[in-house]
Amino acid sequence: MAIKADEISTLLRSQIENYDKDMQVTDVGTVIQVGDGIALAHGLNDAMAGELIEFPSGVLGLAQNLEENNVGIVILGPSDDIKEGDEVKRTGRIMEVPVGEELIGRVVNPLGQPIDGKGPINTTKTRPIESPATGVMDRKSVDEPLQTGIKAIDALVPIGRGQRELIIGDRQTGKTTLAIDTILNQKDQDMICVYVAIGQKESTVRQTVETLRKNGALDYTIIVTAGAADPAPLLYISPYAGVSMAEEFMFDGKHVLIVYDDLTKQAAAYRELSLLLRRPPGREAFPGDVFYLHSRLLERAAKLNDDLGGGSITALPFIETQAGDISAFVPTNVISITDGQIFLQSDLFHSGVRPAINAGLSVSRVGGSAQIKAMKKVAGTLRLDLAAYRELEAFAQFGSDLDEATKAKLDRGARTVEVLKQPENAPLKVEKQVVILFALVNGYLDDVPVEDVTRFEAEFLNWLEANDADLLNEIRQTKQLPDSDAYDKAITSFKKLFNPSN
Ligand SMILES: Nc1ncnc2c1ncn2[C@@H]1O[C@H](COP(=O)(O)OP(=O)(O)OP(=O)(O)O)[C@@H](O)[C@H]1O
Ligand SMILES: [Mg+2]
Repeated sequence: MAIKADEISTLLRSQIENYDKDMQVTDVGTVIQVGDGIALAHGLNDAMAGELIEFPSGVLGLAQNLEENNVGIVILGPSDDIKEGDEVKRTGRIMEVPVGEELIGRVVNPLGQPIDGKGPINTTKTRPIESPATGVMDRKSVDEPLQTGIKAIDALVPIGRGQRELIIGDRQTGKTTLAIDTILNQKDQDMICVYVAIGQKESTVRQTVETLRKNGALDYTIIVTAGAADPAPLLYISPYAGVSMAEEFMFDGKHVLIVYDDLTKQAAAYRELSLLLRRPPGREAFPGDVFYLHSRLLERAAKLNDDLGGGSITALPFIETQAGDISAFVPTNVISITDGQIFLQSDLFHSGVRPAINAGLSVSRVGGSAQIKAMKKVAGTLRLDLAAYRELEAFAQFGSDLDEATKAKLDRGARTVEVLKQPENAPLKVEKQVVILFALVNGYLDDVPVEDVTRFEAEFLNWLEANDADLLNEIRQTKQLPDSDAYDKAITSFKKLFNPSN
């Protein structure tokens, strides 16, 4: 093809004439490659890490890899109509989500858009999804309890407001149920809850929302969900979006409980993104910064000091293990970032011990200072007793010639296990927990047949409510143990009414 000199000179002339108009070249780039939810763009020289980038279809992307010649962008929506050569624009904004009271009772995606069909959410406020964690001087140590309503947790591994407690266990061990029950128990406790569902089936999330609604818990709960079929970037950002919504309340002096169900799926989504962005894979093919992925998230949970209003975010991150292996990469990372863990065990769950908490491997490093006095007294030795029982139990299988003391320990242990069982969606107020644990540790249950303990507990608590509510009220108000004479009178009169099943 011949080159025409006059055409070239016109082209050059027009380029030179229009030179000024192209001053903003760095704010616009061109897609040079797209696929698997990732786009590479050329020309976005000034893009910031984490900046929102707009594609022609209006779909947004998140600038991730900033390299010399191109920017790796993860696409936060349908990527079908993005093609090579498309123009992309910088927005100058870091990703933000809407925040505020208006979100309460709603189900939103990680971008803060409603997906519950109840119309738009009219908030005016937003917060960036990534923000630095509260500093050392702005914090205060954990000193108020967060009542989960689950006996085994409140007694053995108590959680305080502002704490981060990991819930870890295999699939189908009752993890989600623990979270839901804890949320249900926050009714009238002056607590706002955020439930972040990551990579779950839509049907499961639907069921969860329904349970919360039925029990009146939607009045104080926000649900953020990125489903199993959503693109990996949405799964990746969902916990950050959730905690931003929580922070708005915390800095307003309120108490928030946030549940991340679960971070294993979030880490997997991040691994997918990182591999597609061609970051070097490390252990278990996770990228090098998977620790930071979770530490920067969990550090945003805090108990603020009184000058800042004393608000708090309590975080319950979840990790799903494979065959009980808590020493895999992501579990060990998260264990080291949190203030303790609650370990749910598959074989306990299947043998009917529900919630299936393994008392020996579960620990809460700061919650003890937040327990109410009465609970601290009754639960003092419970954890050790239980661990000793598990050991004796294994030992006792070898022979039946046991001395009296050992037999007594075994009997008490069996009743302890029974008392710590709890059905789902039935959280118990702390005064009721104290009442039944007090009976246990003081030997009032020793003559109740093991198979009747659960029924005894339920009937006794009902009876107390009807006949001696003062005893319960007193514990609730004073946070002290009941007067032992009054207690003795109550439980002895109830025992006369109780019919053992055989
Ligand atoms: N305390 C309990 N008493 C009786 N049933 C329970 C209890 N806790 C959980 N379940 C039942 O066990 C099943 C599994 O519970 P859940 O969904 O909470 O487990 P999960 O560990 O979150 O499971 P997944 O790994 O699928 O997320 C559910 O059908 C639930 O109803
Ligand atoms: Mg679950």
